[in-house]
Amino acid sequence: MSPETSMGAQSTDGESMVRLAGLTKRFGRNAALDDVSLTIGPGEVFGYLGPNGAGKTTTIRLLVGMLRPSAGTAAVLGLDAWRQSRDVHRLVGYVPGEPALYDRLTGNQHVAYCSHLRHRDDRKRAAEVAVRLDLDLDRPARTLSRGNRQKLAVVLAVMSRPRLLVLDEPTSGIDPLVQQVFHSILREHTADGGSALFSSHVLGEVERVADRIGVVRGGKLVAVERLQDLAARSLHRVRARFTDGVSAAEFAGVPGVRDLQVDGRTLSCNAPQAALDALLKLVSAREVEDFECSEAPLEEMFLSYYGIDQQPGHTSAAETESVSGTAVGHAG
Ligand SMILES: Nc1ncnc2c1ncn2[C@@H]1O[C@H](COP(=O)(O)OP(=O)(O)OP(=O)(O)O)[C@@H](O)[C@H]1O
Ligand SMILES: [Mg+2]
Repeated sequence: MSPETSMGAQSTDGESMVRLAGLTKRFGRNAALDDVSLTIGPGEVFGYLGPNGAGKTTTIRLLVGMLRPSAGTAAVLGLDAWRQSRDVHRLVGYVPGEPALYDRLTGNQHVAYCSHLRHRDDRKRAAEVAVRLDLDLDRPARTLSRGNRQKLAVVLAVMSRPRLLVLDEPTSGIDPLVQQVFHSILREHTADGGSALFSSHVLGEVERVADRIGVVRGGKLVAVERLQDLAARSLHRVRARFTDGVSAAEFAGVPGVRDLQVDGRTLSCNAPQAALDALLKLVSAREVEDFECSEAPLEEMFLSYYGIDQQPGHTSAAETESVSGTAVGHAG
């Protein structure tokens, strides 16, 4: 069973914005993508995570009709991404990992050119987005830094208010303040019913905007999860120091509490969100000197939950997995 069905993560509505069914892409004998099925509903942001070489860009290229599947299908609003790619292009704003820009054209000339191709005038909207992203549209593309090229690609993708945004690591190279602006642009897009597929190496980058996340490894979709379910399951580290000594037995009855330890006047344990209220009431019934409660990083818990560091499927020895840091594999 695929993670998509086994985790009950299927979109429930009849009309899905994106539907990948058994999507497979082989380059020679290598399967860059192997039997991936996934649906993304209207108004949903899907965070697509995976280490280098996992198949993120391949999935995205199949979805925007730039690659022909070896098997299976990719569809946007019921249109086949390969066979009906012209119609699909009208619905999709695409930010490639390496934006292809014309060196000699300015931002404004790119905007005019894209408007011309789409037979619509999106210059006003482009100018607004550029101001928010702090991007100068008068400069030729060849003079733009990597981050500013990325911003121009975002402007070109969102200016026509497409139904679907497909973003291949759009915020790599963009500084954190601008990332926040980018996230608010994304939220406005989904508030209007738009959807997005957003690829990244790191959960931290998509967790602020994604409704669901999927992890791809060695061409296979190995996990799909709603972010809110993940957050509800995440453990909190709780530590309380009391004026008087306590016994572990007083707190052992709280359902879900684990790793309970008492050292003289100090209690420490791990607790799921659902246990926090009961635990806090027991703690506050005594005189407290010090109290700490911190959430374990979502990334750590997500990876350990799925044992993702133990999954096979890497094609290259260089692509080793690092789960202790913040990346799903090395981000370099
Ligand atoms: N045109 C191609 N010809 C041959 N192999 C390819 C081609 N494009 C991708 N691959 C292979 O397919 C696999 C998946 O690559 P893909 O670019 O989709 O990974 P990715 O998840 O986007 O990685 P990254 O995080 O580095 O961008 C890799 O093993 C890659 O070498
Ligand atoms: Mg890629």
